[in-house]
Amino acid sequence: MTISKEADLVLHRARLLTLAPLGEERPRVGPAADDVGAVEDGWVAARDGAIVATGHGHGWERLDLVRGATVEDAGGRVVMPGFVDPHTHLCYAGERWDEFSARRSATDYLAILESGGGIHATVRATRAATDDELLALMRARIDRIVAAGTTTIEVKSGYGLEPEEELRHLRLIAQLRSEALIDVSPTYLAAHALPRRAAADRAGFLRAARGALAEIARDHLAEAVDAFVEKGVFDADEVAPLMREAAALGLAVTVHADQMNDVGGAAFAAKLEARSADHLSRASAEGLRALERSGTVAVLLPGSSLFVGYPPPDGRRFVAHRVAVALGTDHNPGTSPLEGMPTAVALAVTLCGLTPREAIVAATINAAHALGRGKRAGALVEGRRADVVVLDTDDEREVAYRLGARLVRSVYANGARVSRTEIVT
Ligand code: NIG
Ligand code: FE
Repeated sequence: MTISKEADLVLHRARLLTLAPLGEERPRVGPAADDVGAVEDGWVAARDGAIVATGHGHGWERLDLVRGATVEDAGGRVVMPGFVDPHTHLCYAGERWDEFSARRSATDYLAILESGGGIHATVRATRAATDDELLALMRARIDRIVAAGTTTIEVKSGYGLEPEEELRHLRLIAQLRSEALIDVSPTYLAAHALPRRAAADRAGFLRAARGALAEIARDHLAEAVDAFVEKGVFDADEVAPLMREAAALGLAVTVHADQMNDVGGAAFAAKLEARSADHLSRASAEGLRALERSGTVAVLLPGSSLFVGYPPPDGRRFVAHRVAVALGTDHNPGTSPLEGMPTAVALAVTLCGLTPREAIVAATINAAHALGRGKRAGALVEGRRADVVVLDTDDEREVAYRLGARLVRSVYANGARVSRTEIVT
């Protein structure tokens, strides 16, 4: 450590989970999938929003603390990177209580969608909402999400369907991004459902969605393009031209793949060299092999399995195939009301069979890779954004164990404290 390093934030006396690269920075797979890079009696220091050093013991005392620096004694608690949520649908209005109460399975879910409810119900409510109303809803969601420890989040459009309305949502997400205290990664979910009016012209609808790509790329309204490839929704073949054009314009590609049925979505995502393939509850062994070869990150979303009632993805298969596993909330009003990543971590263990530490890797560094931020977020390493969470426990496995409890004590995003809970013990 350079003795003269300046710091305006120090967290010390921590069980520090660095998630530091094990060599070249890439997602953790196979036997490395549970390596959280723990340092006992560790510390992390930042200046102007970036991590300047980490270490253990009293080394931090040699830092040059600037006037007004924040110094937090973690008292042996876990200090780790802020959570990265690589899959959310935050831009919507209206809830779907009736559907939730009536539905019992993936079959019910797809039948409701087919009959003009489900996603279409949210599309109607979202279209009816003003810009200010949608922004207020997103801001409130982000506030709760930050308090639960998320410091990087992907936000999809997808409840506009018609390109013009999708563009309105993407511009609102851009507004959210510009003011949020955390890092927001926008995605154009171009093919989420077929509008009823386009029933006789699927190709025309997809052409129009494709037609919006140039403006989206030019105005930096999305980093990635997504499609819902599912039985009765969209086939891989029909969305392929849209996805290829997105890639040609320099946008990343991601796919809702094999969520409720094996439709070859994993292999399709691999063929596109997608940044991530998401859900994958029904992905075949062949699909998993393809993901391993393409280096596409598998984003598991156990919240939607739990709430819709379909079999969750088996995390052990992914680890055995050396596929990089990430974890997200899939926050949306239809299949997953989860807001916080700690609950997703707990479900990844109880439903998907990941170990608690695998789930933490999946919720931090591997999720950062799923968003193309593998070198910027998800780890406590010099030069990265100072996105740090202090847990109210000295054993990170408790996050997975104490389902529903609030274990996130302080949250720092970009070096500034954005949330703190005083927990009386
Ligand atoms: O990830 N499956 C497609 N999209 C969302 C659900 C959207 C909705 O039901 O409103 C998902 O589960
Ligand atoms: Fe989703």
